[in-house]
Amino acid sequence: MGTLFWIPRRICAGHLSRERSVLPYGMYVLGARSRHTREVLDVNRSQTRILLDQEELPKNYINILPYLKEPLPPPISPQTGEPVKPEDLCALFSRECVRQEMLPAKTLKIPAELREAYLRFGRPTPLQRAVGLERELKTPARIYYKREDVSPTGSHKLNTAMAQAYFAMKEGTGRLATETGAGQWGSAVALACAYFGLRATIYMVRASYEQKPYRGIMMRVYGADVTSSPSDRTKFGRRMNSEHPGHPGSLGIAISEALEDTLGNPGTKYVLGSVLNHVLLHQTVIGQEAIKQLEMIDETPDAVIGCVGGGSNFAGLAYPFLTKTAYKGVDFIGVEPEACAKMTRGEYRYDYGDTAGLTPKLKMHTLGADFTPPRIHAGGLRYHGVAPTISALILEKRIRAVAYNQVEVLEAGRLFARTEGIIPAPESAHAIKAAIDLAADAKKQNAAKVIVLNLSGHGHFDMSAYGSLMDGTLNGNAAGAA
Ligand SMILES: Cc1ncc(COP(=O)(O)O)c(C=O)c1O
Repeated sequence: MGTLFWIPRRICAGHLSRERSVLPYGMYVLGARSRHTREVLDVNRSQTRILLDQEELPKNYINILPYLKEPLPPPISPQTGEPVKPEDLCALFSRECVRQEMLPAKTLKIPAELREAYLRFGRPTPLQRAVGLERELKTPARIYYKREDVSPTGSHKLNTAMAQAYFAMKEGTGRLATETGAGQWGSAVALACAYFGLRATIYMVRASYEQKPYRGIMMRVYGADVTSSPSDRTKFGRRMNSEHPGHPGSLGIAISEALEDTLGNPGTKYVLGSVLNHVLLHQTVIGQEAIKQLEMIDETPDAVIGCVGGGSNFAGLAYPFLTKTAYKGVDFIGVEPEACAKMTRGEYRYDYGDTAGLTPKLKMHTLGADFTPPRIHAGGLRYHGVAPTISALILEKRIRAVAYNQVEVLEAGRLFARTEGIIPAPESAHAIKAAIDLAADAKKQNAAKVIVLNLSGHGHFDMSAYGSLMDGTLNGNAAGAA
């Protein structure tokens, strides 16, 4: 197995990996897969950037459904009050995604072409140690963040956009319609459609369309057709515009528009960026990679954190841990904005996924499908409900939720930018804020806690959010002076 070397901790550990089954703790192999140059190195936990080789990209998705204590309450038809039939959902979604929505198996193989797309666009992503942030906080905690910001569109959303576009393309669909809040999901769908040769129409929530014009341009660069929602393209959009001129829009309204578009245009399928089981399933590549990366440095998390809009990035990181008994005592924390606090303040009941009431009803924590969240900068978290599996896990007390206002969140984002160099998306800054609070508790208790958070996206298109923070015009639960 080659020659063993001991090296000082200061060596850049990004190029190292440990042969877990062979080597004792703290010994790592340089160029582990090269037969000739195996040098084992002692770097313990001084690694700051933990990388996986391409062949370590997960081969399967992990399905949380068989791991729930009770069967998940099914989506119900508002007309009949009965569980919806798969064929009803096929009018909207690709058949394969409908099948995945109710998958009984614990895992699902990722098709080779899709794995190739993941590799091409930056998976596996790094796990990085927040040494600068730790130093600034003077905490004994070790904080790690999963770098979903490195995807070309800037967030985790590409993981499911690629999958949904791929399955639709395989079934002969020529066009996808969707909504987008912050613009991250729309950008991901636009790129996925460009990659798999589909057309894309994207309804972008007006508040974000105005706050972030360059996101709209980015989607158009990839070839998508982008419109501000409420729009005049759909009956529902026209009704909203005439009843509430200048309405800021919401994810619920944009979803209604994309659904109406899909139902009125044969050959079009709808894709959703969060909430549904198949969407969360596709995101589980994140947590599987993180588990391997933490194993490489012999770390076991005490806390796993993600921000929650509909719940996909949090689930993507947390669910693979939740399915393993080794991680039983871990504190799984979903973080939401106070301005749209469905998990901490919503009711658990059946509700529509969209504002017009076109979707089946889902059993989830909700603020009500007609709730219009204030125009906070974290547009991707302005959603009235949450994934039914997340609600079920909250009720099982296997995960918990916290809420913050956007001033404290963006301050946390700014601190992260100054200490780690990465400007986080306002959505992701929610997870950072929760990690900072845990690290402060760890300091009080002098406990070397291991905290893992999902850096779900970068904030390069969110300068207006940081600008209003620095100008002092930011209001805790609404956007700036608007
Ligand atoms: C960067 C980023 N993080 C998080 C979210 C929230 O979505 P989810 O809860 O599905 O991860 C969004 C949604 O647009 C986003 O753009």
